[in-house]
Amino acid sequence: MKIGRITVSDRASAGVYEDRSGPEIEAALGEVFSAAAEFVSAIVPDEAELIAAKLREFADTAQCDLVVTTGGTGISVRDVTPEATRAVLEKELPGFGEAMRMTSLAKVKTAILSRATAGTRGHCLIVNLPGKPAAVRECLEILAPAIREGVAHLRGEDPHAPTIQ
Ligand code: MTE
Repeated sequence: MKIGRITVSDRASAGVYEDRSGPEIEAALGEVFSAAAEFVSAIVPDEAELIAAKLREFADTAQCDLVVTTGGTGISVRDVTPEATRAVLEKELPGFGEAMRMTSLAKVKTAILSRATAGTRGHCLIVNLPGKPAAVRECLEILAPAIREGVAHLRGEDPHAPTIQ
């Protein structure tokens, strides 16, 4: 099981502040996929071409089973993660974003400011998450069953056999 995590943030990529959301993805997914998962990571600025290039690299060259982004899903002028993601997707999974927004809205009234999406590229599942560490944790808890099953489908495994390595 190989997982890519990409933090999308002008300031984190420039070293203005520490990236806490990327490590939070790793911690939360380490719990979801209790079997050993190998992680590759990157921090990129809010530039659509750089985000798309990193998504392609992690999906195609690094052959990640799952790539999770954090940040850049909102409505600020520089937020372009969903557009960059759609540019590389083969099949979009709108239900991931819908579930995050619907479930998060019950406790975070600003959840609907996120335009996060998800989808597939080849055998890779790509999922956007909002930028805050707390949002990463909340959204991964909501999406964990679908991520687990989606990855198994893309790997051609029996999704009900808990053997993801
Ligand atoms: N979703 C959850 N679960 N928890 C949160 O705290 N923050 C919201 C939203 N989604 C939030 C959330 C806020 S305030 C914003 S602006 C949007 O995600 C977009 O965040 P991003 O631009 O950092 O991706």
